[in-house]
Amino acid sequence: MFRLKKILGMILGILLIFSMYSCGHSKSVETEDDERDLIVVGFSQPGAESSWRVALTDSVMESFTEERGYKLIYKDGKSKQDNQIRDIRTFIQQGVDYIILSPIVETGWDTVLAEAKAANIPVIICDRNVVVENESLYTAFVGSDFKSEGDTAISELKKILESEGKDSENINIVHIQGTLGSSAQLGRTTALERALEKNDNWNIVYQDCGEFTKAKGREIMTQALAEVGADNIDVIYCENDEEAYGAIAAMNEAGVTYGNDTGIKVVSFDAMNTALVLCMDGQISVEVECNPLQGPYLYKLVQLLEEGDTVPKLTYVKEQHFTKDNLTARFIENRKF
Ligand code: AHR
Repeated sequence: MFRLKKILGMILGILLIFSMYSCGHSKSVETEDDERDLIVVGFSQPGAESSWRVALTDSVMESFTEERGYKLIYKDGKSKQDNQIRDIRTFIQQGVDYIILSPIVETGWDTVLAEAKAANIPVIICDRNVVVENESLYTAFVGSDFKSEGDTAISELKKILESEGKDSENINIVHIQGTLGSSAQLGRTTALERALEKNDNWNIVYQDCGEFTKAKGREIMTQALAEVGADNIDVIYCENDEEAYGAIAAMNEAGVTYGNDTGIKVVSFDAMNTALVLCMDGQISVEVECNPLQGPYLYKLVQLLEEGDTVPKLTYVKEQHFTKDNLTARFIENRKF
């Protein structure tokens, strides 16, 4: 009897050591109802300032599902870089397998990315990019080419102004910027600044930061109308759709004519469905898409890394642009965002 107890004790001991060994050597977690190892991905978003960002979150969540063998941990940085840095540190402590970071601004990430690298956790930057001293601090970037988006917006605006015979007239622009220091703001603003250098007749008559929100866009446009006057405004260059919705609300409130042939031209980025309806209607003159469906791109990269393959350092997502001439109700209905 004593011998049997001793043997059972030894078997239990071996099983315990074995289970402790496997816990210590695998970063993956198991759920209660599923014994498979799941690959854990920590996803840090800067906030939920726009419907575009909600579409990005949905796309990432739909891509990294338990059915596909993933556990996604989502963190909202509530529009503060410090929160995002804290969230990444939490992911490191949790021992996640991958980190996806959509950075609120480009700079200030070196230290925390070095910590992730020291912990051997690959970091994929998505949507906006980072500027770091050593690019080996992250594995890959997937997102938008914001400067190219801005260039597209400018060239479409120029075409419209030319078609209305306004190419040599003074063009007064209200510029509503996105979150300062974000790649989306920097790229889209750079494109406008270059256009101003090339076109002596283009002037910025009012500029402020709208933080990519409708509330701020509305506030800024109300102020611009009060200070500059609707008659002295030809174009509103909004750095995303939320700001454009806000600017339009302010113009509606003030009874200002915008869009189509005679009104103030609204230029915007994202091309969310609501904005495309306004564009098809002629209320927004130019819409440049910022593609939030980045989940499938990220999923593909992680799959490649799981298989031990090398991945491209930089991937730009596919994006289109729109005016009322290339939009139909059917096209808009069939879009996912
Ligand atoms: O980084 C992408 C930008 O951020 C989108 O244009 C905007 O809507 C979002 O908040």
